[in-house]
Amino acid sequence: MTTEWKHGNIISRMSLEEKAALLNGASEWTTREIRRLGIEALVFSDGPNGVRRQRGKGDHLGLNASVPATCFPALSALACSWDEALLYRVGQALGEEARTLGVDVLLGPGLNIRRNPAGGRNFEYFSEDPFLSGKEAAAFIRGIQSTGISACPKHFAVNSQELHRMTVDSVLDERALRELYLTGFEIALKEGGAHAIMTSYNKVNGSYANENTHLLLEILRKEWKYDGFVVTDWGGCNDPAKGAACRSDLSMPGAGYVPVHEIVQAVLDSRLPMEALEQCVEDTLELQRKTAPGRKNRAAGYDPEKHHILARKTAAQSVVLLKNQGKPSRLLPLSENTRAALIGAFGSSPRYQGAGSSAINPSRLESLSQVIGNYLPRYTGYAAGYTPGRKRDPAKERKALSLAEKSELILYCMGLDECSELEGRDRKNLAIPEEQILLLQKLYEVNPNIVVLLSAGAAVDLWWENYCSGIVYGQLGGQAGASAVLEILLGKICPSGRLSETWPLRYEDTPSYGYFPGPERTAEYRESIFVGYRYYHSAQIRVRYPFGYGLSYTSFSYSDLKTDDRGMSFEIRNTGDRDGAEVAQLYVGIKKKQGLSSRQGAERLS
Ligand code: BGC
Repeated sequence: MTTEWKHGNIISRMSLEEKAALLNGASEWTTREIRRLGIEALVFSDGPNGVRRQRGKGDHLGLNASVPATCFPALSALACSWDEALLYRVGQALGEEARTLGVDVLLGPGLNIRRNPAGGRNFEYFSEDPFLSGKEAAAFIRGIQSTGISACPKHFAVNSQELHRMTVDSVLDERALRELYLTGFEIALKEGGAHAIMTSYNKVNGSYANENTHLLLEILRKEWKYDGFVVTDWGGCNDPAKGAACRSDLSMPGAGYVPVHEIVQAVLDSRLPMEALEQCVEDTLELQRKTAPGRKNRAAGYDPEKHHILARKTAAQSVVLLKNQGKPSRLLPLSENTRAALIGAFGSSPRYQGAGSSAINPSRLESLSQVIGNYLPRYTGYAAGYTPGRKRDPAKERKALSLAEKSELILYCMGLDECSELEGRDRKNLAIPEEQILLLQKLYEVNPNIVVLLSAGAAVDLWWENYCSGIVYGQLGGQAGASAVLEILLGKICPSGRLSETWPLRYEDTPSYGYFPGPERTAEYRESIFVGYRYYHSAQIRVRYPFGYGLSYTSFSYSDLKTDDRGMSFEIRNTGDRDGAEVAQLYVGIKKKQGLSSRQGAERLS
């Protein structure tokens, strides 16, 4: 049998124990090496918005130190650029850093569907929409892999809640599984050519994702003809032999020799065919071959300054201008002479990334209070006003109010604090901490010219939006997010980000409200395919800001729409008085009795 493998000459020289040993890691981040056969250890590292390379004590929760790397905007932010070329470029930069830092496989992008806006890891995922997610992920993957590093989209599949994430059983119908939860992965693998994929912790319809025959054998391998590498999530192996039987090639992290003995025993007991074990070894050796160019080219290095500039450009393109009003004219863009005050604790301690395994040790970190003077020389000062996660502080509030009084305009930083956006925990609702809103209301009384600079990795409740004239959604903008937001505020860059998820009027309006997260052993995906705009549109529920929404400082006209069997074309013109980019979105559907089944396309035009 071994002669059929591409790496048959090596496999035929391996003992059963050596083969089994390749199926479990050697440490937190590396696979086992077998020197006598020239099999080198592979190095894995998180992803997805920077490289979390740990050289000392490793962990999969982002607790221990990692070496400095560029922290790009969170994927939820990048998604709002709708710009595949930009995603490719960020992927390439990540690949360059990973390659330099001795990494072979970068664990990203995160590709789960943002089923409910309160999902704890939504900031690591692109969208509620599988088409947008898949297209963006594919570009990102192509960028990473252009550097000789392998990408590893995760977590396959139906892993849209954090509660009981290692045991919960995601129960859903086949149509929702395929149309919503698998489509993004299918596009990422077929169009992005990802060399690897990570299975999720949870069960899917009764069986762990990592040993799920339907997912891993019938769909992934047989239908999609995926021939690449499969790795578990860290600690996500339930039964090593069952995983191997489903061609899940590697369980991580290293867990000593127990899983190795289990595999050896399963082969001896004929529970695991030798051919299945050798297939996993073959996949591993193939991944080694694919990552060899990266290993050879480690010395190529990268330019940290260039990556910081790319991080800023990316953050600026991800900003979504949600609101721009004011009297007598719109507040934004600001003139350089504006005597603006900066208020809110995130002005000096930015929220720039989420917490957990994606947390990067940034090579640099800008804050608004540091860089604002470069953009607004007449700025009047900074006041924290509140302390995230703490009770109201009257002295801090007084200082903020007196600063607001003597300023022309207030740039007020609001958002979710770090503990609200966290791997392993979902949010309970979409609320922003109350003390921030109370301060907003007080500020409004002394000076209604308020532009809110909003930091959050997913939708929040904006019931308070009438207390401000502008909302600039800077998201979790990475290490250069502060100057990116100022470039937008000053109109140096025209905003072109568009939401990749619907912002509901109230949390209660979301389709899975009431049964998200699934609190018991099962998470029931009762809403089926009606997630995000598919639901709001079909059920005609009003929303605060729809999927695809975002304002600009210029305007565009569309004309000459033509359709034929091959597709559609139309003309688009910038009708305003400044340069700008537009995301042209096309929603095409067939009306059916039960609702609207839609396919969608989008292209970003500069
Ligand atoms: C996360 C993965 C991550 C892995 C390694 C797990 O806890 O779910 O996304 O890649 O740890 O850090």
